[in-house]
Amino acid sequence: MFIFRLVFVTIINIISLLIFPTDAIRSFPAENGLDLSLEFSKAPDYRNGVKCPSSANNHGVGLTSGCNPSLVHIAMTIDSEYLRGSMAAVHSVLKHTSCPDNIFFHFIVSDSGSVNPDDLTRTISSTFPLLSFRAYVFRENIVRDLISSSIRQALDNPLNYARSYLADLLDPCVKRVIYLDSDILVIDDIQKLWEVSLTGSRVIGAPEYCRANFTKYFSAEFWSDAELAEVFAGKTPCYFNTGVMVMDLVRWREGDYTRKIENWMEIQKERRIYELGSLPPFLLVFGGDVEGIDHRWNQHGLGGDNVVNSCRTVHPGPVSLLHWSGKGKPWARLDSGAPCQVDFLWAPYDLYKPHNHHQQKRRQII
Ligand SMILES: *[C@@H]1O[C@H](CO)[C@@H](O)[C@H](O)[C@H]1NC(C)=O
Repeated sequence: MFIFRLVFVTIINIISLLIFPTDAIRSFPAENGLDLSLEFSKAPDYRNGVKCPSSANNHGVGLTSGCNPSLVHIAMTIDSEYLRGSMAAVHSVLKHTSCPDNIFFHFIVSDSGSVNPDDLTRTISSTFPLLSFRAYVFRENIVRDLISSSIRQALDNPLNYARSYLADLLDPCVKRVIYLDSDILVIDDIQKLWEVSLTGSRVIGAPEYCRANFTKYFSAEFWSDAELAEVFAGKTPCYFNTGVMVMDLVRWREGDYTRKIENWMEIQKERRIYELGSLPPFLLVFGGDVEGIDHRWNQHGLGGDNVVNSCRTVHPGPVSLLHWSGKGKPWARLDSGAPCQVDFLWAPYDLYKPHNHHQQKRRQII
């Protein structure tokens, strides 16, 4: 029986190799990977309304430099595990903004190979034919030696640190960018977030949570070292989530904040000053100097706790951005047949079409 199955599977593989010569290897997803090819439906065409500032976006996909001043810049990282989330996130931004032609996406992929930038460009172009974007490759070596292992392994992914390098990666003509995680949905006009002012010399804006116990983000060793703890002297630092940030790249570049973050990561390598991954260096550098944006722009925690099957509900009040931070992701819970209520909010933005794809393939094979 086993031998028979093995032979059968081998024959199917050979047939599929013959039918899909260029695609054959990639059409079988890697263990945790998502197959990039032909897996997403084309999104509806979202176009500018009449009141939009004119944009020189000519939809030369991947070619426009993005230096036009009327553009709204959004940066996201893309990896195979979260690709489905990223596509839904982009979809949500375009669906709810009044001027979709003025949005420019900067997609960062890692050079470790989980997503090939050419595959990504093809997939984005076929899913969002009108979208202006550029794909960048993040060299993981830049941070690999700076990362010390954290309590949750998913947080050690070098790509999580790419947000600290946006000022270097993006063209110097890009003066401001909104960084977004991949497990989010924007259900309001992103233009409103884009227009928040960063007062004084503030470099980043994000919703702050001042009732969270800030002490617990750092170790006792950190707080007991007066020289280190001095970083918060005269400040009232609050927790903020780095999954949604408005970043002033001009001030960032001037103040060389990337190096400031790296310096803290170097200290962490020698002395255990915090537990979590890429967040604490941001808290150390910006805590107390963050422009507090309305909480509606980051309803985080919808992924639930690290406890399996724990569901969260959306807090009362206005919501502009939903964020499935935490361990559970809506696409995984929907697929598993045990979704949380909040996951049904995510489903309408999902563009993934695995079933059609595989059915088509099976029909062709037969
Ligand atoms: C905050 O957390 C620290 C460290 O876990 C703890 O010692 C302290 O009592 C907490 N403070 C409050 C107000 O809960």
